[in-house]
Amino acid sequence: MHYRSIAPGALATASLLLAVPAFAATYTPGAQGIGDPYYPAYGNGGYDVSHYDLRLKYQPATDELEGTATLRARTTQDLSQFDLDFLLNVSEVRVNGVEAAFTNSGEHELVITPKTGLAKGTDITVVVRYSGIPSSKKAYGFTTWLRTADGAVAANEPESAWWWFPSNDHPLDKATYDVSVRVPEGTQAISNGRLRSTRSAGGWSTYCWRSDKPQATYLATLAVGRFDITTGKSESGIPVINAYSKNLGDRDAAARASVERTGEIADWLSGYFGPYPYDALGGYVPDVPTGFALETQTRPFYSPRQFASGPNPSVVVHELAHQWYGDDVSVKGWKDIWISEGFARYAQWLWSEHEGQGTTQELADKVYASHPADDAFWTVAPGNPGPDNQFDIAVYDRGALAIQALRNEIGDDAFFTVLKGWPQKHAYGNASLADFQRYAEKVSGKDLGPLFDTWLLEPAKPAGPAAARMSSLPAEPKSWKQIEATNEMHKH
Ligand code: TRP
Ligand code: ZN
Repeated sequence: MHYRSIAPGALATASLLLAVPAFAATYTPGAQGIGDPYYPAYGNGGYDVSHYDLRLKYQPATDELEGTATLRARTTQDLSQFDLDFLLNVSEVRVNGVEAAFTNSGEHELVITPKTGLAKGTDITVVVRYSGIPSSKKAYGFTTWLRTADGAVAANEPESAWWWFPSNDHPLDKATYDVSVRVPEGTQAISNGRLRSTRSAGGWSTYCWRSDKPQATYLATLAVGRFDITTGKSESGIPVINAYSKNLGDRDAAARASVERTGEIADWLSGYFGPYPYDALGGYVPDVPTGFALETQTRPFYSPRQFASGPNPSVVVHELAHQWYGDDVSVKGWKDIWISEGFARYAQWLWSEHEGQGTTQELADKVYASHPADDAFWTVAPGNPGPDNQFDIAVYDRGALAIQALRNEIGDDAFFTVLKGWPQKHAYGNASLADFQRYAEKVSGKDLGPLFDTWLLEPAKPAGPAAARMSSLPAEPKSWKQIEATNEMHKH
């Protein structure tokens, strides 16, 4: 299907007409990317998924994953063909019950050609049967599937779905999930949302998880291993399920002393951000050698290293803040990462103030003073950092600094109204930096163009009156080191 890689134009159109049957004169292939300039091949065009039903079986000893994925989707154009993003070996694809042709292309495209064209605006069901050894599959030379001594973990950003389920892999296409996983008895399977059932038969245990609110593909997670599972309820009544690998050793106590505060911290955050958007809470700490944490929906992933030097509630604050900023309101494109990371970092500052370990202003002052004007830190624009700097420390620290500057500009009343109103305004949806600016302008009645430009877009250290408040040389806030210690993701 080489014509798909030819630039659009007469030649492409002509070969397309020759290559496919009669219905295709008006029915065309969906785009192989959803249109994100940071990652042109991520996601796909031509359809929108509403639900993923994943039935999986995983064998830790061999890293063999078998599965059947059933996708419910709606076409957004007259489709002759469409892609899913996926790396494992596919044995069968059915579209509306009928066997479809399929092939692989690019780094991670599964190209599906249904027997007949699919009219725009119709609901379709796609069944994909597959198997494979996820750790053996690479795209762009890497794998993000993490094997552990007793299982494996899928948790990464932006790429984690390709190794375990076929998807339209971009935050713009959110869907609900049923994830059912069979694992050897004695092993547990952790995923997002509520645990609907567990059962064991013939040496295998099945864990059924459900996420019934829209969820971005990178926020879907799977962890298999030997876990100790704790259950509870937040004061506001949300059920909490946490899971700790049995191999955490001397990090076990600090992990529990942090993650067991999930209900308390989520309730505290809802005071700033409004009601918690989901019906499940928790966190899991698998036995992985990595350092990062990730805001996987309802149930963040924490590397044990986050707890290597003692309890770290600040990282729990960060990941739970994402449940509103990042998960409930997701980026439209990856360039909008500030609407996720800037606020998760700012929540850590609010927690510091709450704990009497330094105010948000003191932390802003410290960030501002820590980087001289010629520091490369100021060359990264959090409002459009580029794919290579998407998770640069500036997106977090300068991103939170910008939020403090906004607060100083519009005052506490308008600021906290924005903070709480935003997740409602775009509930279960997507938004851009421009959407945020528009909303803050509406609430505050001020033109915020210059402020957003100075703090988020200029590749230079902000100066002048807007910065005057930040320029005193502050003492180091008590929380500074602990917040810095949550920065592991910038180190690889
Ligand atoms: N979004 C994650 C956090 O806020 C951090 C992160 C960035 C990350 N890049 C990643 C996590 C890659 C896992 C993999 O905590
Ligand atoms: Zn984050």
